Amino acid sequence: DMGGHDTYMHKEIHEQADAVDRVLRGRIDDRFSTVHLGGLNLDAREARRIRRVKILGCGTSYHAGMIGAQMIEELARIPADAEPASEFRYRNAVVDPDTLYVAVSQSGETYDVLAAVQELKRKGARVLGVVNVVGSAIAREADGGIYVHAGPEVCVVSTKCFTNTTVAFALLALHLGRTRDLSVRDGKRIIEGLRKLPTQIAEILKQEEQVRELAEEYAQSRSMLFIGRVRGYPVAREASLKLKEITYIHAEAYPASELKHGPLALIEPALPTVAIVPDDDLLEKNRAALEEIKARSGKILAVAHREQEKADRTIVVPKNEDELDPILMGIPLQLLAYHAAKVLGRDIDKPRNLAKSVTVE
Ligand code: F6R
Repeated sequence: DMGGHDTYMHKEIHEQADAVDRVLRGRIDDRFSTVHLGGLNLDAREARRIRRVKILGCGTSYHAGMIGAQMIEELARIPADAEPASEFRYRNAVVDPDTLYVAVSQSGETYDVLAAVQELKRKGARVLGVVNVVGSAIAREADGGIYVHAGPEVCVVSTKCFTNTTVAFALLALHLGRTRDLSVRDGKRIIEGLRKLPTQIAEILKQEEQVRELAEEYAQSRSMLFIGRVRGYPVAREASLKLKEITYIHAEAYPASELKHGPLALIEPALPTVAIVPDDDLLEKNRAALEEIKARSGKILAVAHREQEKADRTIVVPKNEDELDPILMGIPLQLLAYHAAKVLGRDIDKPRNLAKSVTVE
């Protein structure tokens, strides 16, 4: 039942405020400015012994993991990174007993992720799952984890589960942080930020008509470039993936910092750039990148916390805490991909060549 929406994707995009409410529900502990994660199966002593976090997932779940890794480094000060599970399982990776492994999956059935988990378990590693589907293979195989409670996701491409997964990682980062050196004050700050998310998501979705108009224009592109720096980079990657999956427009994501090391050669009026420009300590750096593009007559759409003069158009999104901004900044770009696909008459819920869960090698 699509409840008045023309596609499951549209419905699921609009369910995100409620979905985020669900992942937060019952987990916030105001007394200690932390969160309770009942299924984690990791006591404080164990949590303090973690020397490194390695996050594994595929596609959109990998991108959510990249955001998660940054949150864990920032809030818990544990070195963390994300890697495609599909790569990890084939490279005879060093399995380290002091590393916490986290497997991310909407379906909980993606074979590349499951195989990585099984290999890790066989070697004695501790593996958590950040999974949407309750009781799925990856959830069962993991030592513990966090259910992301996005609700059923029917559209082949992931939207609400991506958002909820990033929130689940914020909870994990806060929990690990407060078990270690994150102050009560910072804990409170993050909790306040988390509580704002549902309202801020609703605010973003109210701009749909404006985004739809932009999509009409961008749907005619042959190719698009997505850029972001540090917190903005995984957001750019996910937006680029969403666009290519449902519109079949070629899109490429690059760290804004790498522009001058190559992709600047591509810039011309026919290659529009979508830039993620948060109001954080890197704002000036990002503005300089926009200037570089503008100087080469590149067209720019910015997603930012305030109007960007160097951009042709800006989608302004509400500001949260710096660490949590990536949760929100990609949401207007889900709408951009959706409306561009609609203009092009694509089969949005079932893009060609793709399946909802990839249970084969
Ligand atoms: C993106 C998409 C895929 C999945 C990937 C992992 O919109 O649908 O990239 O994210 O196949 O799937 P899960 O999360 O079920 O493991």
